[in-house]
Amino acid sequence: MGKDNRLSRRRYLQGTAAAGAVAFAGCAEDEEIDDGNGDGNGDVDTDDTGNGDASEGELEIVHWWTAGGEEQALNALLDGYQEEYPDYEIEDNPAPGGAGAAIDAAIQTRVIDEDPPSTFQIWPGEALRPYTDADALEPVGDLWEDEAHDAYLDGVVDAASPEGDIVSVPINIHRLNNVFYNVDVVEDAGIDVDAIDTPEDLVDAFAAADDAGYVGLAQQTQEPWGILQFWEVMFTGQHGADTYQEFLDGNAADLEEEIYDSLALVADSEEYFNEDAGTVAWDEANADVVTGDAAFHHNGDWAAGEYQAADDFEYGEDWEYMAVPGTEDVYTLVMDSFVMPTNNPSPAATEAFINYCSTIDAQERFNPHKGSIPPRTDVPTDEFPPFLQDQMADFEASDAQITSISHGSGLEPALASEVEEEFAVFTDNWDPDETTENLVAIF
Ligand code: GAL
Repeated sequence: MGKDNRLSRRRYLQGTAAAGAVAFAGCAEDEEIDDGNGDGNGDVDTDDTGNGDASEGELEIVHWWTAGGEEQALNALLDGYQEEYPDYEIEDNPAPGGAGAAIDAAIQTRVIDEDPPSTFQIWPGEALRPYTDADALEPVGDLWEDEAHDAYLDGVVDAASPEGDIVSVPINIHRLNNVFYNVDVVEDAGIDVDAIDTPEDLVDAFAAADDAGYVGLAQQTQEPWGILQFWEVMFTGQHGADTYQEFLDGNAADLEEEIYDSLALVADSEEYFNEDAGTVAWDEANADVVTGDAAFHHNGDWAAGEYQAADDFEYGEDWEYMAVPGTEDVYTLVMDSFVMPTNNPSPAATEAFINYCSTIDAQERFNPHKGSIPPRTDVPTDEFPPFLQDQMADFEASDAQITSISHGSGLEPALASEVEEEFAVFTDNWDPDETTENLVAIF
């Protein structure tokens, strides 16, 4: 990845938004930023490491990374932090649920009650806004390692600075528009993946797998983000990144036909899902690809992290991936970051953690397990798994880098929530007419 990376020049910068629609009006409005060093001036001090008392020396971290691959990635990150700062304890406090399904409930009340954890996971971009509007986050730019500022992709830095100040530390970039498949299953079902050129062909391939006795598409419908993200990438595949961006820009009324087409295609896919789609999490659905019960899985490349964590399941031999047909030149971005809430229970430990996340060491440890690529351009990636080498090449070659609604970056939080609610209904009635009408009405 060169410094001249496309991420820095793409329009996603204007569109970066995120879910988490609760506003914290009035919360912490008059608070001063406390850097924990007692001088009340808000200066951050990365040298202040490990000398606090028991609770101040404990980093409580809230995240949703409990799935295979994700758990390994988090542990690799925390191990690196512990090596660097052995005096701090870690209180790992997960809020499991794909795409942060449970984290808002876990965090927002605590922030309002001025009893936040030391740090929590959040998408850079608009997801940060309810917190910055409430002055609930410390500026953390001074905590980043000095060299990090030049090394980060510009667009990522911008996403971490919705109001000007950097308020989070991004650690990864995922791609959302992937289709993964089990090589043996696809061969056994007589599917020629090279001949899958369009989203419609992809649904035909699900049908072919189904005919051969496999699950066509391993999917979760328990939480609405799974179908919302599937619709997003099928829409992009059918109508192109510019049209998708038009939708994000609020022009749904002119896109009724396009919205309908993609909803209808997603509804057509439903008959090829695993029977337990409504009661499983994404990683449980994806496990059907590993066991050879299912042919395909659509997801962000955290799904590849799960394959990498599985025994005897090798990239290129047992599993493969392709971009969602029609999105070969597109990189649909999903990023993660950590923040330092105000009223921080352990400022020194948190400062050290934010600083650590900005380092090469942290990003080199974390990303290979996670299935993501680093947002710093100077991380040595030669040792990254072959799958990620391919993703990095695709990132370099991509013409359009767009953001996702389901992962917080594509729409401002209140709208993203409304869209997601509509998809919760769609996931029940599979009615493209009604859903198109309702989506248009939201905008
Ligand atoms: C995304 C997040 C990823 C991954 C995924 C599945 O929102 O950015 O890192 O965890 O959800 O839960």
